[in-house]
Amino acid sequence: MSGTGHTVQSTEPLDTMVELLSGLDAAGDGGDGGRQAFYDRLCEAMCRLTSMERAGLLLYQEARRLVVPAGTHGFGSDLIHDVHGTLDETPIAQRALAENRVVEVSGDLAGQVPARYAQLPGITKITCTPVSAGGRWLGVIFADRGGEPFDLTDRERHTMWTLGKTAALAASARIAATQHERARLLAERVDLAREVHERVMQRLFGVSLVLGSEASLTAEQRQRCADEIQAAVADLRHALARPVAPPQLDTGATLREELQRLGASYDGPPLQIAWDDGVEVPRQVEQLSQSVLAEALRNAHKHAEPTRVDVRVTTQDGTFVLEVVNDGVESGRRGRGAGMGLRLAALDALQSGGVVDFGPTGGDGEWRVRLVVPLAAEDAR
Ligand SMILES: Nc1ncnc2c1ncn2[C@@H]1O[C@H](COP(=O)(O)OP(=O)(O)O)[C@@H](O)[C@H]1O
Ligand SMILES: [Mg+2]
Repeated sequence: MSGTGHTVQSTEPLDTMVELLSGLDAAGDGGDGGRQAFYDRLCEAMCRLTSMERAGLLLYQEARRLVVPAGTHGFGSDLIHDVHGTLDETPIAQRALAENRVVEVSGDLAGQVPARYAQLPGITKITCTPVSAGGRWLGVIFADRGGEPFDLTDRERHTMWTLGKTAALAASARIAATQHERARLLAERVDLAREVHERVMQRLFGVSLVLGSEASLTAEQRQRCADEIQAAVADLRHALARPVAPPQLDTGATLREELQRLGASYDGPPLQIAWDDGVEVPRQVEQLSQSVLAEALRNAHKHAEPTRVDVRVTTQDGTFVLEVVNDGVESGRRGRGAGMGLRLAALDALQSGGVVDFGPTGGDGEWRVRLVVPLAAEDAR
């Protein structure tokens, strides 16, 4: 191999990396579609620059506690879109990430990839490229030659590794942006919660003291109570009129789709989903209901050891109801804690005229989170 030839070849992945990343820039915040196009192009580049013929990039999704496809190239079927897995059940990915190198396996894939994929026809040998940066494991890229046997050259391995780093760069930049945005929104919403608490709750507390006293009220006191309540309502309106949008979860899906996906692939206790016939999620409640669901599932893992989680979607007396119940709460751990997650969810619900209530159900070790939002006349039917 001549020196110059080698240099020219080695810059190819670098050129591709620059080209891909500048494309990402141009797409701006193209939302999910833009990002998927970026990861699709990255998979395509992997196939163009190496002897691989199909590639699938999977990234870890926190809400689902699983890796799921973020981009693909060369897969004819839709099958790839349902692929999912955990690191535990995918030793080949563990190895690629731990050793920070492209790993190849051939022959028997059992014990290397999740059992449900080990037997898929047309897979004889696969490669696994780490997607990691700064010690953070973000995902992997699987690629093969469409079922044909092959041997990777060092150059190919290097190209694949570089593309893995490119994907990691893009994914971690996005995570950083999301975290920054989340922190900002959280700060704003904590301020709002404090303001509501200080102004509105103070007034209501004063009123409740007067109303709760044994003595009967004078006309003047009654008037004073009415005024205070009116002022509290005005304060509440004023506070809530502030444009503090609840953080948008960009699942890009509806609650129904999200539950279907979770039902099919969720690394946790069995989800029992009961969706009452004819119930639709009012559009303005979509994001809210998904964020309540996400918080409830996070909490179930964080604060309990559930053996099952029941999710129910229904309507009741002109309200839309989403209820998530988990078991496995230790009797000693039934405090309400000092967390913010559910309180913020309650605040978001308030902005849609709804409420979030939560606490032990009274059932054995059960905990319930319930979102109740009044239906607009046209939704109620
Ligand atoms: N699924 C659950 N099982 C048991 N306890 C829970 C559950 N969800 C919430 N809790 C209790 O309610 C508290 C408040 O929850 P949350 O507002 O989400 O805050 P955080 O999760 O940050 O502690 C928790 O600290 C915990 O004590
Ligand atoms: Mg929480």
